[in-house]
Amino acid sequence: MIIVTGATGKLNGAVVDHLLKRVPASQIGVSVRDPNRAQHLADQGIRVRQGSYDDPAALLESFEGADQVLLISSSDLTADVAAQHRRAVDAAVEAGAQHILYTSQHAAALDSPYSPQTIHAMTEDYLAASGVAWTALRYGFYGTIADLVGPWQSTGTIVRPVDGPFFWVDRRDAGEAAAEVLTRGAAFNGPVDLTPTSPVTLSDFATAASALAGRHIDRIVVDDEEWIDQEIASGVPEPAARFTLSMFQATRIGHFAHAHPKLTELLGRDPRSIAVQMGEEIVADNRAR
Ligand SMILES: NC(=O)c1ccc[n+]([C@@H]2O[C@H](COP(=O)([O-])OP(=O)(O)OC[C@H]3O[C@@H](n4cnc5c(N)ncnc54)[C@H](OP(=O)(O)O)[C@@H]3O)[C@@H](O)[C@H]2O)c1
Repeated sequence: MIIVTGATGKLNGAVVDHLLKRVPASQIGVSVRDPNRAQHLADQGIRVRQGSYDDPAALLESFEGADQVLLISSSDLTADVAAQHRRAVDAAVEAGAQHILYTSQHAAALDSPYSPQTIHAMTEDYLAASGVAWTALRYGFYGTIADLVGPWQSTGTIVRPVDGPFFWVDRRDAGEAAAEVLTRGAAFNGPVDLTPTSPVTLSDFATAASALAGRHIDRIVVDDEEWIDQEIASGVPEPAARFTLSMFQATRIGHFAHAHPKLTELLGRDPRSIAVQMGEEIVADNRAR
C-alpha cells in the first residue's frame, strides 16, 4: 500500500489525484490530521486514517500496511519541524515501509542561506540513516504566484528586492512527478532534484504578466530594507518579510540556479510554464469574485 501524508494539502492532494490514475484506490491510504477533510478521498475508496507528526501512536496506526510512505514537509511554523519529521520517519520505519519519500526542496543543504533548506537537509540525513530505501523529492519553489510577485494586476509593477535565478514549479506537475516515482518502484535512491529545465527571475514573471495583461508590467528593484519597511507598512509581520527577503538573497548568489532534467523526464513533457500558471491564477481569481 502507498500511504500519503498531507493529502488534505495542495501538493500531496495533487499526488493522490495522480496516483488514482495509476493504481487502484484500494492500494492508496492517506494519513491526515483531520479525516473529515478527506471524505472526498474515502468516497473514492481510499483508506483514510488520522495521523499527525505530533502523535507517534496515531501516525504508526495510519501507516499500517505501508510499502511506501510519502512524507510531506511540515507547514507548522510554531513547531520543532525537524523533530516532527524525525517522528514521521521513525513511524514509517516502525510500520515496516520499504521506501520512504519526502517532499524536500531543490538545492537543500545544511549550510544553505535559506532556512527551510537546513531542515530539509537534516531530514534527508535522518532518512539516509534510517536503514530504509528513501527518496527526497527536491522540488523547485511553488505556491501562489501573486504572493511571490505582489498585486501586479492593480499596480502594473512587480516591486521586489534584487533577485537571481530560481525554479518555479506547478504543484500539479510536482504531484504528478511524485506519483510517477511512487509507481515506478525504487527508481530513485536518495535526493532527486525536480526542476523545469530553465530557471526564471522576477523579470521573467514581469514579461509573462505583460503578455497576459497586454500592457507593460514593470519589474522595479527596491533596496532590501526599503522593501522590508514597505511590507511591514502593508501589514506583513517583519519575520515573514525577512524570511521572503532571505529567499531573494539566496537566489542572488546562484544558490538555486542549477537545472536538473528529471522533472521533464518523469512527466514526459515540459512542466507548466510560469505564463500558463499566471494565466490560470487570473482565471481562478476572476471566477472566485
Ligand atoms: N518549496 C516551496 O516553495 C514551498 C512553498 C510552500 C510550502 N512548502 C512546503 O511544502 C509543503 C507542502 O506544500 P503545500 O502547498 O501542499 O502546503 P499545504 O497545502 O499547506 O499542505 C501542507 C500539508 O501538510 C500537513 N501538515 C502540516 N503539518 C503537519 C503535521 N504536523 N503533521 C501532519 N501533517 C501536517 C497539512 O495538514 P492539514 O491539511 O491538516 O493542514 C497539509 O495537508 C508545506 O507543508 C511546506 O513545508 C514549500
